[in-house]
Amino acid sequence: KRTKCVALTFDDGPGPYTGRLLDLLADAKARATFFTVGTSAAAQPGLLRRMSAEGHLIGNHSWSHRDLSKQPTSRIADSFERTKDIVRAAIGQEPTLARPPYGAVDEDVRDVAREMGLALVGWDVNTRDQPGAKASEIAKRAVEKAHPGAIILLHDINRGSVDAVPDILKELRGKGYTFVTVPELYGSAGMRAGRLYESGSLQSRKQPLT
Ligand code: NI
Repeated sequence: KRTKCVALTFDDGPGPYTGRLLDLLADAKARATFFTVGTSAAAQPGLLRRMSAEGHLIGNHSWSHRDLSKQPTSRIADSFERTKDIVRAAIGQEPTLARPPYGAVDEDVRDVAREMGLALVGWDVNTRDQPGAKASEIAKRAVEKAHPGAIILLHDINRGSVDAVPDILKELRGKGYTFVTVPELYGSAGMRAGRLYESGSLQSRKQPLT
């Protein structure tokens, strides 16, 4: 029988709650994927080292969280490049995944990602964990919408999101889920640079192979 897996993804950090989140994930032996913003990563490289040392994956979430689909190709490349350099300096490895801010992907973003060896990652479970959202509501949305192969969107810069994590881990584990990084959802099939992945179970439903 195949293992039921979900990928928890945390965007926009590292931030003030990221250390606590790492404690929670370590206690639960759960792994996650962090899409870090370059400016924040540059400020807290120690947290990136900790993520990496504890088995989490670090992805590229641009340099300063602008909508890349509205930028010229050179700016898109520069935004990914600067963040890549920061991550490599911190953990000795370059990210192979990118999540464009707001999930905004266009042809230029795809082209740059392909050139830079970055697979693009969206999500298919939005917990709507904006600042001020209640932890109980965030957890409820995550648990109710989860399915095998789900990519769950959360933000480690929001207190409520991190407060929701113990319940998310407990409830989903109770349903038999294992928490893996995004590439682990795809296993030996791997992930291709320039392609957009939104779910591990429905991986090609929207996007043609390009
Ligand atoms: Ni973001």
